[in-house]
Amino acid sequence: MNMKRIAAEYAVQYIEDGMKVGLGTGSTAYWAIQRIGERVKEGLSIQAVATSKVSERQAIELGIPIIPFRELDSLDVTIDGADEVNSDLDLIKGGGGALLREKIVAHHSKRLIIVADERKLVQTLGQFPLPVEIVPFALEWTLNALQRLDCRTQLRTDEEQLFVTDNGNYIVDCNFGSIELPFKLHNEILGIPGVVDNGLFIGRADLVVIAHYDGIVEVLK
Ligand code: A5P
Repeated sequence: MNMKRIAAEYAVQYIEDGMKVGLGTGSTAYWAIQRIGERVKEGLSIQAVATSKVSERQAIELGIPIIPFRELDSLDVTIDGADEVNSDLDLIKGGGGALLREKIVAHHSKRLIIVADERKLVQTLGQFPLPVEIVPFALEWTLNALQRLDCRTQLRTDEEQLFVTDNGNYIVDCNFGSIELPFKLHNEILGIPGVVDNGLFIGRADLVVIAHYDGIVEVLK
């Protein structure tokens, strides 16, 4: 059983005719976009924005109408994945490098639905290294400032090249081991000049759809 697919397809039930929809990024959001594409072929009428170039390409290939951000005021719902989810529905996101656009789209969505398999559920955030998007200028200074927050940093690479986001920035993966005060850490990281955003999504998710390995789908809210 593909648990990512089960969670994603379950969440697509929440999309209704006429809605403006945010499309997430990653291997779980992929299945949501596939299912939305099928529903569009069956006659569902929506407008969508994507959180990455990859998701946008997928949506266009499936015939999902994509509209430019400037033509939008707000979105009805966004379906996206996560790297970790705790019981407060706080998240770590950005494993796929799309955290900035994901956070912007989430902020302007009336409802953020997170889809994940049960491996993403954790007691305490932080086992998954926290992705932080930084501007390339003054890279070393920004890295040093992040390390002073007591984490091990790894500048993300892709096939031996520095990974570059859709926004032309770098990602630093910050291993904290355990994040006891996510909101405090979120704000401390944002206080470092050179940081664009980080993958902590605090108080943003409205629903989390978890597919368990026994086939049960759990909806957390
Ligand atoms: C993309 O930048 C991420 O935020 C993804 O949503 C997150 O990494 C989950 O990805 P998977 O669904 O591939 O596990």
